[in-house]
Amino acid sequence: MDGNGRWARNRAFARIRGHRAGVESVRAVVRAAGEIGVEYLTLYAFSQENWSRPRSEVCALMRLLEKFLRNEIAELNENNVQLHAIGQVQDLSEQVRRQLALSQEATARNTGLKLILALSYGARREITRAAREIAREVQAGRVSPDEVDENLFARHLYTRDYPDPDLLIRTSGELRVSNFLLWQISYAEFVVSPVLWPDFRKEHFLDAVREYGRRQRRFGGVSSRG
Ligand code: IPE
Ligand code: MG
Repeated sequence: MDGNGRWARNRAFARIRGHRAGVESVRAVVRAAGEIGVEYLTLYAFSQENWSRPRSEVCALMRLLEKFLRNEIAELNENNVQLHAIGQVQDLSEQVRRQLALSQEATARNTGLKLILALSYGARREITRAAREIAREVQAGRVSPDEVDENLFARHLYTRDYPDPDLLIRTSGELRVSNFLLWQISYAEFVVSPVLWPDFRKEHFLDAVREYGRRQRRFGGVSSRG
């Protein structure tokens, strides 16, 4: 979800107004994803690197996150959405963590879309953390080095319970990955939308899904059409 700052700057607003406007886009995309039967939607809401932003912006983002978690419970329940989170959640304030736990608990019985918020998330850290955990298992003699394969490794990632993403949508025209799900996106299809996140709506999301539908996925093999 990129482009909040630029959206605000274009209007001579403070950056936080762009973040606030982006909440409506989250609502629209979550609803649209649920409607078309998407099973997992991961939103890169706050990266590990985002902590380096000015304190005032970080604080405003955290307040916005807490408010979102509190205010969206009814809407999530109405849409049968189950809330999940990945990332270094312990970096968040006690207050935000408590609200996150409450919102997850309040939506735990929903059976539709799984909405996964990436919070204080960084893929390199996720991967090194997995390596460290596995090293400990090996050291303790519970796992032999020969057992360390892709499946075992993936079970030590935050995403252990989720399939790899099929489609990665990047907004605001940026052509970089920004430390997002590096392991998991090996074969994801990329769609870059020029639209700034606060302007991103259902139609843009459906455009990206249609574009995905036109892709031929070969996973390194050759196409059935030869
Ligand atoms: C993305 O918008 C929102 C978060 C990282 C939380 P940006 O804040 O990165 O917006 P730009 O890139 O400055 O336009
Ligand atoms: Mg940005």
